[in-house]
Amino acid sequence: MTLPPKPASRPDTVSLRRYLKLFRQDLLSAQPERLYRAWMAEFRTPFFRSYLVNQPDLVTTVLKERPLDFPKSGRISEGLRPLLGESVFLTNGAQWQRQRRIIDPAFEGGRLRETYPAMWAASQAALARLSERAGETVEIEEQTSHAAADIIFRTLFSIPIEDALAAQVFHEFRAYQRTQPILNLAAFLPLPRWMPRFFRADTRQAARRIRALITALCERRRAEIEAGTAPDDLATKIMTTADLETGETFSTGEMVDQVAIFFLAGHETSASALAWALYLVATHPEWQERLAEEAQLLGDAPAFSDIARLRLSRDVFRETLRLYPPVPMMVRETRCPERFRDRDVPKGAQIVLSPWHQHRHARLWDNPDGFDPSRWGTENGRSCAREAYMPFSAGPRVCTGAGFAMVEGVLMLSLVLRDLKLTALPGKVPEPVAFLTVRARDGIHLQVERR
Ligand code: HEM
Repeated sequence: MTLPPKPASRPDTVSLRRYLKLFRQDLLSAQPERLYRAWMAEFRTPFFRSYLVNQPDLVTTVLKERPLDFPKSGRISEGLRPLLGESVFLTNGAQWQRQRRIIDPAFEGGRLRETYPAMWAASQAALARLSERAGETVEIEEQTSHAAADIIFRTLFSIPIEDALAAQVFHEFRAYQRTQPILNLAAFLPLPRWMPRFFRADTRQAARRIRALITALCERRRAEIEAGTAPDDLATKIMTTADLETGETFSTGEMVDQVAIFFLAGHETSASALAWALYLVATHPEWQERLAEEAQLLGDAPAFSDIARLRLSRDVFRETLRLYPPVPMMVRETRCPERFRDRDVPKGAQIVLSPWHQHRHARLWDNPDGFDPSRWGTENGRSCAREAYMPFSAGPRVCTGAGFAMVEGVLMLSLVLRDLKLTALPGKVPEPVAFLTVRARDGIHLQVERR
């Protein structure tokens, strides 16, 4: 059985100049093969050190046990700040804690159930768009981006993507994504901190346009809340939730920062995962058939509780997040000197946590590069799920949208396969690269037929 595509690694030793060149091309293939076996690897640069950490108990220390000692790295935030401002994705300490206290209730289990009708409507719309293309070869990432953006607009603001303002935001985001990777090169590059960074003019302009559009959405909603006419969706919930400690709600400006990250983190990631999931079932027809059969239980109007019954679809989606984690790496910074694996890690070092490498670690997983959704029922799969699987990160900074994404992904995957059959094109194997999220360099092209 051929393995799902994996980027070729670079040789173990290359010059810094060559490393930088490779890095500019793609974060994943710029890394050496040994990272798939190492517990920890050190990268020394003239200005700072970075450590990629795969060892499960060290990852637990950083993410779960002492997260406040390993704040988000400022080097990472630079590239995204023009768009995201002081959003929860970038902040640290007391400011971040306050933001999570206001945001988290909107994503709790009960709210997810209330969000579900909007998710179902968006999924049906996505299926209808794809069904219209039956008989054609379709670039799937474009379809899944459209679908995931639609879900975010409908669940947050109760508007479909056809709404003029929503369509404009979507369009601008696409332009922005081409100019900014989520992992700023600065996290790895040997640039001193004092060196001023310049954003490209088009990045700054795109960020300004997006923020103006989101401000209009938030102001419109603020007025509706005041008039008592606001729909009961995620935006209303977040804008009316008071921090239990201070009694304050978000100002419109703060809400704009949060909405920007919900769009960015919420739609790019889900779109990436769903596109890879569809590719993997297209190349594993036996799993595609099993999912199509399971999807019969959706019927025409599945209840929220029916999603929990889509077990095979969930196993395939989890396996997709293992092989192609949409956020391939996360970066933290040491606040004080540390000692990891008998090595001194200085204050201010960059700690790179890599779902990409940990999920394919040769000393942790059975058949690390293979597609095997049944692994989750095995002893190795279960222990790795606990210790070596972090597509949504872990600990207090875990993705706020993890529950949301698992419902959305599993539902969409099933619904598409209920009605459509997908086939991969011979000779057109997508090449994974880390743009904003893990994407295929030239898209994912599949033949779509009605069942
Ligand atoms: C398959 C889909 C998704 C994946 C794989 C994913 C993954 C992640 C990861 C790995 C992080 C941590 C990043 C870091 O610490 O550097 C994160 C954070 C975050 N995600 Fe997601 N995400 C997904 C969907 C969503 C959705 C649907 C939403 C919202 C609607 C969302 C909102 C956020 C937010 C707000 C944060 C920042 C949390 C914080 O720093 O406290 N994500 N996500």
